[in-house]
Amino acid sequence: MSLNDPITAPWWRDAVVYQVYVRSFADSDGDGLGDLPGITSRLPYLRDLGVDALWITPFYPSPQHDAGYDVSDYVDVDPRFGRLADADALLEKAHALGLKVVVDLVPNHTSDEHEWFQKALAAEVGSSERERYVFRPGKGRGRKQPPNNWHSVFGGIAWEQLDDGDWYLHIFDRTQPDLNWRNPEVRSMFEDVLRFWLDRGVDGFRVDVAHGLFKDRNLRDEKVDVTGDGPSSRHVASLLEHDTKDEPMWDQPEVHEVYRDWRRILDSYDGDRMAVAEAWTQTPARTAAYVRPDELQQAFNFAWLLAKWDAADMADCIRRTFATLDPVGANPTWVLSNHDVVRHATRYGGGPVGVARARAATLAMLALPGSSYLYQGEELGLESVDVPEELRQDPAWFRTGVEWRDHCRVPMPWKGTRAPFGFGGRKQPWLPMPAEWAGLTVEAQTGKRGSTLELYRKALKVRRTFATTAPREVEILDRAKTVLAFRRGPVTVVLNAGTRPVAVPKGKVLVNSGRLVDGKLPPNTAVWIRQA
Ligand code: NOJ
Ligand code: MG
Repeated sequence: MSLNDPITAPWWRDAVVYQVYVRSFADSDGDGLGDLPGITSRLPYLRDLGVDALWITPFYPSPQHDAGYDVSDYVDVDPRFGRLADADALLEKAHALGLKVVVDLVPNHTSDEHEWFQKALAAEVGSSERERYVFRPGKGRGRKQPPNNWHSVFGGIAWEQLDDGDWYLHIFDRTQPDLNWRNPEVRSMFEDVLRFWLDRGVDGFRVDVAHGLFKDRNLRDEKVDVTGDGPSSRHVASLLEHDTKDEPMWDQPEVHEVYRDWRRILDSYDGDRMAVAEAWTQTPARTAAYVRPDELQQAFNFAWLLAKWDAADMADCIRRTFATLDPVGANPTWVLSNHDVVRHATRYGGGPVGVARARAATLAMLALPGSSYLYQGEELGLESVDVPEELRQDPAWFRTGVEWRDHCRVPMPWKGTRAPFGFGGRKQPWLPMPAEWAGLTVEAQTGKRGSTLELYRKALKVRRTFATTAPREVEILDRAKTVLAFRRGPVTVVLNAGTRPVAVPKGKVLVNSGRLVDGKLPPNTAVWIRQA
């Protein structure tokens, strides 16, 4: 099988994957929380939208301290979201509709309610039960100081002390103890988990915190002073600056051995099963190491999401993406929004301008070779929402007092004129939905000329005519500084990030994110043009 032959290419190479945030997609039982039967009932919507696959965020049993990223049982379904039979039904229906299904895998940490951690708590200091996690004695007199200077991504220190004096590491919330990946039991448990879901028919995994599993063997102190104005600020800043910070808790070389093992497991199944890494490493080159030929198939390209509304920045990111992936022979991915970041319409300025820019950026993205990840609601032009403080649920908010992610997790508006807009029953959803979304529901946008939903539908339809067959090469065209223009075989893309209308090359307009005026492309607009 050749990765670059359009006939035999694996399904994921150019797949558009739609991220379903379980809690907020569709609520079948009206308890205010989305669920698996809700997703199943909306699969025809996804097929008609024109995506190839869906990635579903964690639906496993969990106390939900981090919206399911705190898993207490990896091989079952949380009763709030349904039963195992509902997962089977979802897979079956998706496959019948021609959609692939990617599920979330959370290997860096378990919930503190996971059987293993409960056993570790009940066991003694130094016991084999504690060896599955990262327990250490404290420092200083009475061992009252944490074992090292690491901080939690969600704010505060990364250690919690038990009554018996022992400390455990949690890179995220206190309720998410980090696993000890140097312990073979941990490795073998996750291999079983992979097989469990592969046997049930999932097509792939999204690997949470893929760069985090191993920590420096000696858990040495981190050599930076922790300033930062938000919980992840240092992380994002370093990715933007392309510099390298000392990070003994991230991206350790040993992690790659795990992915080589997983790759062997994936390859032992039919149907091009895959995994995509969530790896917020410091540079695109570091992330490329996760998609070497014998490791995972994809990694999220967060550099694209971090690029500013700036033509040069975007062009730079595209160039760098290919420059770092070509040497390892991997295909790119692209992503603009997910459940952890400010929605791109809001990031680009919000309001009508922000939405216009978001539509343009998405259109440019969808013409690029490789796989694109969409986040539910972006096809409606949704923006991040100001969730009232007393209703926020993100553990990062509780630990820092900084609103970080609830804003992008508000449920999907499907129909009608009042909340919950067909999301569920009478019970109000777990996060409140803004009244203004009445004009943005799927129902309101369906068939409406110029709506964001119809733009996505059209772009995805036209994309199918060239996505797998057009050349993999992208030629960035030299244009004005404020214009991003590139050619991919017969398709030329122009995005106007400036303030004045610009001319576009001759040819047939395939899709445009906004109206052309006198044949010119207005600011905050993009177009696909087919040239003979
Ligand atoms: C990344 C996930 O996307 C995020 O939502 C979660 O809080 C952390 N990993 C911890 O699992
Ligand atoms: Mg429900």
